[in-house]
Amino acid sequence: MNTEYLNEDCLELAAEFQYPSSGVILCDAKLLKLYPEYFSSEKPLPTLALRAGERSKNLNQCLKIYEFLSEHGIGRQDAVQVLGGGTICDLAAYAVSTFKRGCRLILYPSTLLAMVDAAIGGKTGLNHLGFKNYLGSFYPAEKIILHSSFLESLPKAELRQGYAEMLKYSLLDEDLPLPEFDSMMPIRDETILRFARYKMQICAIDPYDRKERLLLNFGHSFGHALEAASQNKIKHGDAIVMGMIIACNYSYQEELIDEEDWLYYLEWLGQYEVTASALRFLEETPFENMLPFLRQDKKNSQGLSLILPTEDGIKVMEAKFR
Ligand SMILES: NC(=O)c1ccc[n+]([C@@H]2O[C@H](COP(=O)([O-])OP(=O)(O)OC[C@H]3O[C@@H](n4cnc5c(N)ncnc54)[C@H](O)[C@@H]3O)[C@@H](O)[C@H]2O)c1
Repeated sequence: MNTEYLNEDCLELAAEFQYPSSGVILCDAKLLKLYPEYFSSEKPLPTLALRAGERSKNLNQCLKIYEFLSEHGIGRQDAVQVLGGGTICDLAAYAVSTFKRGCRLILYPSTLLAMVDAAIGGKTGLNHLGFKNYLGSFYPAEKIILHSSFLESLPKAELRQGYAEMLKYSLLDEDLPLPEFDSMMPIRDETILRFARYKMQICAIDPYDRKERLLLNFGHSFGHALEAASQNKIKHGDAIVMGMIIACNYSYQEELIDEEDWLYYLEWLGQYEVTASALRFLEETPFENMLPFLRQDKKNSQGLSLILPTEDGIKVMEAKFR
């Protein structure tokens, strides 16, 4: 992996949208419709519209991208400009990383989740054989352009997905502010940049998920189990917040944290209003029902490790249950 690109200088805030000057564009089809003014250029670049969503992160879509890049004679020195949320970034970056062993990759994340998380750190991914991100590579973008005006059209439910990850970062690093969940107030560019930088710094320290970066999975083991157990009816952001709550409860139960810390974590997480249907699912689902999904988590090939609050902060710990 080119760790040179795991660098804060690769993050760029763009108040005005600048149409890319070279290469080709891979774009969430929705953005082409929502922002036609951004794409009307005197020198239009070849553009491939892609459908967003988990179901599009597959090999067929990837082949479509290979064909498009090939048709337009793209080589390793050419830039591929990718505009979209996390699913488009994951899919397109995977294709770009494997086409002719990798072309130049520029990302323009268009959801809050992609701006502060998915576009950063170089993980690409396709879903395959029923497993999420089963195929993937580490391929950081040479530039990630944060154009927050894209968020004006983002539905509130999608904004919440990004907020959930930001809430997690603010628990992992006490220097980060508690993100505000006021959907009527646009989120400030500086706030987005600060959280995006935080992820970039962690990835730069630990590019391959061996130590510090693992902590970014706080809430994810239980969260993924909840998503799977609910057959994806619970959205990722809700699942992660509830996953963090379960992790805190587990830590308290195992005496890894005292009551004061436990209540502190719960109060912090209480800033995020989990939807009533997600809470109901949690109340009605016995913990044992989640265990098979926890064991399937690809991060748990050896033993069952969890990211848990302890009296020395949030750490990777072995679970006592199997
Ligand atoms: N690679 C990583 O490190 C990493 C990290 C976290 C998440 N992810 C991945 O990110 C994906 C989720 O990303 P996501 O939440 O951005 O989903 P997404 O890409 O599906 O976008 C969510 C929805 O918002 C729409 N949309 C995108 N931008 C818009 C805009 N500006 N205005 C209106 N609508 C817009 C999309 O068309 C889609 O319907 C998952 O597949 C997850 O695995 C990857």
